[in-house]
Formats: sequence, structure tokens, C-alpha cells
Amino acid sequence: MRIGIFDSGIGGLSVLNEAYHRFPDQEYIFYADIKHVPYGTKSETEILGFVDEIVNFLIEKKVDAIVIACNTATSVAVAKMREKYDLPILGMEPAVKPAIEEPCDENKRVLVMATPVTIREKKLARLLTRVDIQHRADLLEMPELVRYAEREEYDSDDVKKYISERFKTFDVTEDKYSSLVLGCTHFNYFKPMYREILGEKIHLIDGNYGTVHHLGEVLGLQMKNEPDSGIRFDEPQDIVVGFKTAYYESGDEITDNIRLSKYLRMLNRLEFVRNYR
Ligand code: DGL
Repeated sequence: MRIGIFDSGIGGLSVLNEAYHRFPDQEYIFYADIKHVPYGTKSETEILGFVDEIVNFLIEKKVDAIVIACNTATSVAVAKMREKYDLPILGMEPAVKPAIEEPCDENKRVLVMATPVTIREKKLARLLTRVDIQHRADLLEMPELVRYAEREEYDSDDVKKYISERFKTFDVTEDKYSSLVLGCTHFNYFKPMYREILGEKIHLIDGNYGTVHHLGEVLGLQMKNEPDSGIRFDEPQDIVVGFKTAYYESGDEITDNIRLSKYLRMLNRLEFVRNYR
């Protein structure tokens, strides 16, 4: 099967990475809309236009299914894309349900971090009405993290200061909160920093496994067990030839090793943060 996965930028690589673990034999097209990132501070109309163009592009490349590896684009566009096109289109939404259902002290709260658009959209409000019966979730916008991730700046003092300041909005500590929901795929890159700020007890919950698991169900794919040693990406061509993936940036295919090296670094970063849960 050929699977198209897209995001405004490098966040969606976290879903591609999970797919490499679970379905290493499939073919992928990864599309990062770098000309328009970040989506999370743009208007609905703009985001809808970007998404429609990408979905069209991927359909022309003859994909069997599309994963919108972006919570923001999903909130705005997934329903409309499903109405318009006749192939499986999967989206992502903040993994609030698993966070709420986790066995933990029920007096503890759940922090849902996402972009301003995801937090504002009705889709998240509807999800909370369904799953957060006891009103344990607090919603926090983290718009700057997308920019830091795109700059590959994950561990700097500025990042630490930004996240710590944002956490002060709800006085987030590991005694008060049981988990952080990473409601934006770009937020995966900062898992070690959340731990450094909040400590070991806090659970970090992303939507990557859930999304890829759902993809397997929709396409009838047999899911592999995770390789014990993880995946190591050594050369740029490993991520192209080895994992049968074409990489596109806003419509342009990336084939040169220098530009592919960025994706290689990011995928290795995602391997590194994978065990922060
Ligand atoms: N990675 C995206 C998400 O999951 C969007 C980030 C952005 O472009 O603002 O929401």
C-alpha cells in the first residue's frame, strides 16, 4: 500500500516514525508544508486551502490512504476532506481519552497542550464533552513550540523558559497533574524538556500509536511488534530507499542528501524521545 502522511512541517514525522515501527513494509509519501508552517495561528479558510491542495497532490501520487498528521489541520479540515474525496482520510486529535482513562489519582488534572486553532475549534470541545465527564482537562496553547521545533531547538534555555512560563498558567506540577497530552505533533520533540521541568511522575501522552493503529485497521494491515532495539537511521538514503519513502516540501520532492539529512536528524531525535512516556 502507498500511504500519504502530511503536516504543516516536521511534526508529522512522529507519525511516520511510528508507521516505520509498525508497518515497515509499506510505501510512504511524507509531505511537509514548509511554505505555510505554522498552521496553528492561521485562519480556518487558509488552512482549508492548504489541506485541500495537499490532499489533491497526494491523490495524484496514487496513495491508498492519507493521514493528516496534524491536529490543527484535522480540526479544521478532516470532515470536509472526507466529504469531498473518496479514499480513507485519517486525522489526529489530542489523545485526551487515554489520558483521562489512565489509572491514576482521579483528583489529578490532565494538561492538554495544542496550537491556538486546535484549542479554539469545536472538534476539541466536542471531544471533551464526550470523554472528560469530570472536567479534569485544562487546555494550554503553546504556539511558539512549533517554531522552536522547526528550528531544531529542543533543549535551549529559551525553550526551557518558554515552557516553564506557559506551565505557570495553571501552576502545572507533577503533584497536581497526572499527564500531559501532546495535542500537536510538533510537541513530541520536547519530551525530555517536559520531564526536566516537571519530573519523572508525569505521563507524556501522544497520539502517534493510536493514529497508526487506526491506519492499520482501516487498511487491514498486520501490525508488527516493535523492534526491541529501535530503529537507527544512519544515511539519508536509509529513510528514502530503506523505508520506501518519498519526501516532499510544499510540492517539491527532496532528493539531495543535504536536505534529506534534516529528516534523518529529526527521525533520530524521535527515536531518542520515543521512550519518554
Ligand atoms: N503539527 C501540527 C499539529 O499537530 C501543527 C503545527 C502548526 O503548524 O501550527 O497541530
